[in-house]
Amino acid sequence: MQTLFIGKNLITLDSVDSTNNFAKDMLSNTRPVEGTAIMAKEQYAGRGQMGNAWETESGKNLTCSFILYPEFLEADKQFFLNMAVALAVKDFCEHVLHDEIKIKWPNDIYYHDKKLGGILIENSISGNKISSSVIGIGINVNQTAFDASLLNPVSLSNIRPTASGQYDMQNLMEELCSYLEKYYLQLRQLHFNFLDKGYTEALYRYQQTHEFKKGEQVFRGEINGVTKDGKLIIHSGPKELRFGF
Ligand code: BTN
Repeated sequence: MQTLFIGKNLITLDSVDSTNNFAKDMLSNTRPVEGTAIMAKEQYAGRGQMGNAWETESGKNLTCSFILYPEFLEADKQFFLNMAVALAVKDFCEHVLHDEIKIKWPNDIYYHDKKLGGILIENSISGNKISSSVIGIGINVNQTAFDASLLNPVSLSNIRPTASGQYDMQNLMEELCSYLEKYYLQLRQLHFNFLDKGYTEALYRYQQTHEFKKGEQVFRGEINGVTKDGKLIIHSGPKELRFGF
């Protein structure tokens, strides 16, 4: 591993309910070294955002979690951690694909109009600081056919097939760790403007006019960025609207 600390302690599992659960269990009775990574060939109860399931074919995709202690980050700035991780995953995917990747707010990883990966961050807050964080990352890699119930999935192999037919998961994990470390070090140095600018410019449909739906109401507007606490800013005519996740 060509990193300082992210992924140096790498735990590889054949099968687990969820790598995020595994990391949280570790945190409940020990203090694993910062950057500890858990990678599983198979997750049988993978979790996504909003209580959704994250289902992927066994052995074909990158499903991993990282343990971090961003104690330097105030709780009301936790969205910057989200930005750092989303930018790391975006840069990693761009590096593999030689093509542009976008971040669909708040942290879906998109190739054109299709979802290539997702991020589930679970923070523990103590006082007004983040005491620990579990960063779960799922990226579709070698899977080429998906369940019809999934809206718009795509994988690295779908987009850019390799000569060998399979991406090497270990190599991908090493690359991902490097990108994560790069952005986590930016966060540690409190380079908030750098992260904000990178994240905003990487937003899917940034500054493009589209239709949005809020309850029954449909309106036209354009995404203009996010607030410091992670709300999506949409300009609709003269109005500036803000949406929480
Ligand atoms: C989403 O887009 O809804 C987020 C998906 C996050 C999936 C990853 S896979 C590794 C880690 N373990 C989990 O149970 N979930 C995350």
